[in-house]
Amino acid sequence: MEETFWQLILKLRHIAKNSKEPIQHIFISLEGTTLVNPHAIPNEPGFWVHLQSKTIPSDSIHAHFLVESPSKASVIDRGTLSETTCTFLKQYLPYCLSCHFAKAQQKAVSIAHFAQSLDGRIATANGDSKWIGNTENLIHAHRMRALSDAILIGSGTLKKDQPKLTVRLVNGPNPKRIVLGTSAACYGSLYESSKDRIMVIGRHTSTLNGQIDYVQLEPEKEFIDPHHILQNLYQQGICSVYIEGGSTTTSYFIKRKAINILQLHLAPLLLGGGTPCLQIPGIDLVDQAIRFEKTQFQPTGDAIMFVGELATDEV
Ligand SMILES: NC(=O)c1ccc[n+]([C@@H]2O[C@H](COP(=O)([O-])OP(=O)(O)OC[C@H]3O[C@@H](n4cnc5c(N)ncnc54)[C@H](OP(=O)(O)O)[C@@H]3O)[C@@H](O)[C@H]2O)c1
Repeated sequence: MEETFWQLILKLRHIAKNSKEPIQHIFISLEGTTLVNPHAIPNEPGFWVHLQSKTIPSDSIHAHFLVESPSKASVIDRGTLSETTCTFLKQYLPYCLSCHFAKAQQKAVSIAHFAQSLDGRIATANGDSKWIGNTENLIHAHRMRALSDAILIGSGTLKKDQPKLTVRLVNGPNPKRIVLGTSAACYGSLYESSKDRIMVIGRHTSTLNGQIDYVQLEPEKEFIDPHHILQNLYQQGICSVYIEGGSTTTSYFIKRKAINILQLHLAPLLLGGGTPCLQIPGIDLVDQAIRFEKTQFQPTGDAIMFVGELATDEV
């Protein structure tokens, strides 16, 4: 049954991404019919997803969801859907509409994901991180890849982990693969896993070519302004980017308040040392803390995942 609703999510994302008009309402049935905006009400907040089916399950489903923000959806009426299916749909529906949130902010929606230990580490002292999260977390990450236009990692993660950055554990399209930084010239795992082109964003001139499209952006001090990266991606038609670390990359995005959503998988283990999840400047008063809103704690197998939205402000 989960696969049926996952296919529905993929279809919704496709419709939302390719809709020529701003979407307020999507009527979708499991039998394949869709209707966008038949009775749109101007200035009504949020996006509505109305779900119908006459065949699955045997009773008619008439469920209504309201997507309120880039990470949060509410069930307005669950019809004959089970609690489990509602939770599943609520978790992934918002990411189907990323292109509309991206349009509003004129830059790609950024979602950062980490699997960290209870003592806040994302890798051991020698850089090993496979796997801190559980199987459910890996499947979640692959679902998020399939729902995102792009996946982005820093050059340190490419060097250490040699990831493929494709969607393999679920059905769905591969996102555009983006590497930030140029010091790691080991693209072997990316070349081997897919013939799709790779985008490398760096601050220096580069001779990278072949399967790589190199984008050089001017740095602010040491690094490139993450807001500039997200604006540049949006101008290239990329509306959502799933940032899978590492620590240096995501910390800089958070420091510059360029993350829309943080997904933090808390694994029930201790590493006692190693790479800290986030390295951001310390503060004197709790009042000055970076805070999250629309927070959720989602059960993920034997662990939980924190999901929260960071208030973004451009400097
Ligand atoms: N548990 C998890 O969920 C998880 C996820 C991912 C990674 N990891 C672990 O994290 C470790 C790697 O993290 P890391 O902090 O060492 O490296 P990293 O964040 O992957 O890469 C850092 C590099 O990325 C480039 N970069 C980042 N932000 C930039 C910006 N705004 N502008 C320009 N370039 C930018 C720079 O590359 P250049 O120096 O080349 O210019 C920088 O040195 C590995 O051990 C990996 O296993 C764990």
